[in-house]
Amino acid sequence: MVFAFLGSISHDYQKQNKDKFDRERLICLTTSWGYSMDSVRIFDTTLRDGEQSPGFSMNTEEKIRMARQLAALGVDVIEAGFPISSRGDLEAVRQVAREVQNVPIAALARAKKDDVNAAIEALEPAAAPRLHIFLATSDLHLRVKLNMTREHALEAIRSMIRLGRQSVGEVEFSAEDAGRTDIGFLCQVCQVAVDAGATILNLPDTVGYAVPDEYGAMFEQVREHLGDPQGVTLSAHCHDDLGLAVANSLAAVRAGVRQIECTINGIGERAGNAALEEIAVALAVRKESFGVTTGIKLQELFRSSRMLSEITGAVVAPNKAVVGANAFAHEAGIHQDGIIKNPLTYEIISPETVGVPARSFVLGKHSGRNALKVSLRNLGYEPSDEELGECYRRVTALADVAKQVRPRDLVAIAHEVMRRRPTAVAAEATSAA
Ligand code: KIV
Ligand code: ZN
Repeated sequence: MVFAFLGSISHDYQKQNKDKFDRERLICLTTSWGYSMDSVRIFDTTLRDGEQSPGFSMNTEEKIRMARQLAALGVDVIEAGFPISSRGDLEAVRQVAREVQNVPIAALARAKKDDVNAAIEALEPAAAPRLHIFLATSDLHLRVKLNMTREHALEAIRSMIRLGRQSVGEVEFSAEDAGRTDIGFLCQVCQVAVDAGATILNLPDTVGYAVPDEYGAMFEQVREHLGDPQGVTLSAHCHDDLGLAVANSLAAVRAGVRQIECTINGIGERAGNAALEEIAVALAVRKESFGVTTGIKLQELFRSSRMLSEITGAVVAPNKAVVGANAFAHEAGIHQDGIIKNPLTYEIISPETVGVPARSFVLGKHSGRNALKVSLRNLGYEPSDEELGECYRRVTALADVAKQVRPRDLVAIAHEVMRRRPTAVAAEATSAA
């Protein structure tokens, strides 16, 4: 499997480790050619669940820009909004549906006539519309929020899906708070939804309460009850209140789910939704473990993440998996040394694979001589062992007080220690620093 990510690894290293690479390559080939892999559809809800959370609202133009990037990223469905929530959102969904014709567009609606009609109106220009109807099914939500009996809920689900199907060919039904719904009732809900014409059944962990084995078991029970009907796809939608949204989504895949709902940078209600970039990379890096593929173009992940940050003004945490500023930065001397010898020592994916321009070595108090030597060389200096030792002493002394050593600090140190100017090539790097 690792073989797929060897782009940046030295040829020498591959030759020296031929047996190991042949073995990994074999695993790769048998996994992708030996039998046909199932694909998992990625349903992106950045523009709906993500957009409805504090600090992430987007205007129509921003939604269209983001939707175009999501199409370039290769998502299978774009949920563009919740049309009944405002006239502006209805118009935004319409515009996205008009502008982005090569990806199915979904619009959300509660199981109410006005909601369903608003969503149908918004989806009118879509080349491949998907109506997404939801109703809470846990006893807590039915009693406290909706003041509805289970029987009323079943009737609303049946009639609204039927209404939707009169205008839209593809209807998804979500049982909100499925994770806390009585499993017997949830099975009944799913049966009613399928009989009424829903072809996608989404069972969200709305409050981020589930743990992976439990969430997977819920899908297994529903599948057993329904008998895996042809043409019906099960879908996972997880929130991150316990930091388990991605783990739960992956557990759902193991349980037979073939659609995952997620968002760029994991934005969404409260602690957010499952992060699309983490799911896509986990399924790719551990392909032999999950046995499924996605249509996500991994090289577009970093660009998508940065575009969303730019639009919303919300920067991801530096230690965020896959797209954080530190995801491919190495500071510890032992790690830097390992990466220089072979990136596989401390990276399970290469930065280029996910569209990050380059890995970086951070010069700080934890860095080692080897990384310093490489950094100096990149700036055009070839220090002797003695000069390297002196540069190292000065760099670590500076890092002790300044946290990080910037390229221009390094140039100043090298210049002083070595008492000579960098080579012509380095002169450019120096001025850029
Ligand atoms: O979290 C949730 O239950 C939802 C549904 C509306 C799909 O976002
Ligand atoms: Zn949600």
